[in-house]
Amino acid sequence: MNILVIGSGGREHAIIKKIKENPKATNIFAAPGNGGISKDAKCIPVKACDIDGMCALCREKQIDFAVVAPDDPLVAGMVDALNDIGVRTFGPNKAAAIIEGSKVYSKELMKKYHIPTAGYEVFDDPQKAVAYIKEQDTYPTVVKADGLALGKGVIIAESFEQAKDAVHSIMEDKIFGESGSKVVIEEFLTGPEVSVLTFCDSKTIVPMVSSMDHKRALDGDKGLNTGGMGTIAPNPCYTDEIAKTCMETIFIPTMEALNQEGRPFQGCIFFGLMITPKGPKVIEYNCRFGDPETQVVLPLLESDLLDIFEAVSDKRLSDVPVKFARDKAAACVVAASGGYPQKYQTGLPISGLDENGGSGLAVIYHAGTKFEDGKFLTAGGRVLGVTQTGSTLEEALSGAYSALETIHFDQIHFRHDIGKKAGL
Ligand code: AMP
Ligand code: GLY
Repeated sequence: MNILVIGSGGREHAIIKKIKENPKATNIFAAPGNGGISKDAKCIPVKACDIDGMCALCREKQIDFAVVAPDDPLVAGMVDALNDIGVRTFGPNKAAAIIEGSKVYSKELMKKYHIPTAGYEVFDDPQKAVAYIKEQDTYPTVVKADGLALGKGVIIAESFEQAKDAVHSIMEDKIFGESGSKVVIEEFLTGPEVSVLTFCDSKTIVPMVSSMDHKRALDGDKGLNTGGMGTIAPNPCYTDEIAKTCMETIFIPTMEALNQEGRPFQGCIFFGLMITPKGPKVIEYNCRFGDPETQVVLPLLESDLLDIFEAVSDKRLSDVPVKFARDKAAACVVAASGGYPQKYQTGLPISGLDENGGSGLAVIYHAGTKFEDGKFLTAGGRVLGVTQTGSTLEEALSGAYSALETIHFDQIHFRHDIGKKAGL
């Protein structure tokens, strides 16, 4: 099979390494990919959002199956375009990807189908939004831009002043661009956060092993929100009992709600959950695999990923095994460029990697690297995801951190406390 994976981060690298385990995957292409991915797949410089360019690439390389991994091409309708030219895909079409593309849509879906989430109101007029905040007068309160904002469109306001400023900067100064023409003002929830990725073919929904992200840039959950600085799986807060509640009150109802709305979902629904004192609630839906959640979830998958992808695409997910190692754990620590998520330097040489971008001590998923003149160089904010599995989370974490000690680039930054908030 000729397979194309669209995207260029650590998540895509993890997907490619897993797909490679299937002997059917004779040719794997990545567009655009990155330096490390180029050691596992043929990278083609077509931008992830370039729908016409991707269709041309699929024709040229006679792609049989495409995995659309990032949110923006999914929300823009990449799957619809590829299906139109006869390419089978993993990922939701544009209609279903709206669960991530519009926070307003996803909140209204949850309200209509009684799926537990934070209470909220939607506004397209900044004055009305501010008047509502004043009337509620409870802080912290949460202000969210409607559309995609690279995971940054959420402001937790500690006071009326901060909330008012958030509304103005999102709706008037458009700090998150057009995604801020509407805002959601949301009740602030408390409790541990859990990421649950699921395979969904619109008839069956199968949760993967749970995980925990660390979104803030600095130790102790300080600093700015990032795409994610590290993950562990399974998430110790996600008990079997909570998993059962989530299946009954959140996962199946979400799949069925999308069917009812004429937006059947085929792909990965990522549930960002908070385990509140009143039970699990949805913080956000994503229409794709998480990054860096994928980097700890897929190493624990014992079944064949390509078989699952094809089954989701053919709506026969219930026919294939989806089994995760129950007696193992995984940890991923992200090595980022100093200054990320704000300004940072790129093009810095990385030491400690072998000629394939790997390490004998851990699995290295490349997030932002390029390969030039026989050397790996930094090329993004998140550079590498250093990942290890073990029979316990402690073992996985200590393995990942030991491997990280042997890797270096100028201004390398990583969190030293991945897994700590889980009591590790
Ligand atoms: P999101 O981009 O929706 O995942 O939000 C980013 C982060 O903001 C989440 O991971 C939470 O830590 C936090 N957050 C979002 N919504 C809420 C809420 N209603 N209550 C408390 N924290 C929230
Ligand atoms: N790690 C969070 C996300 O992928 O959105």
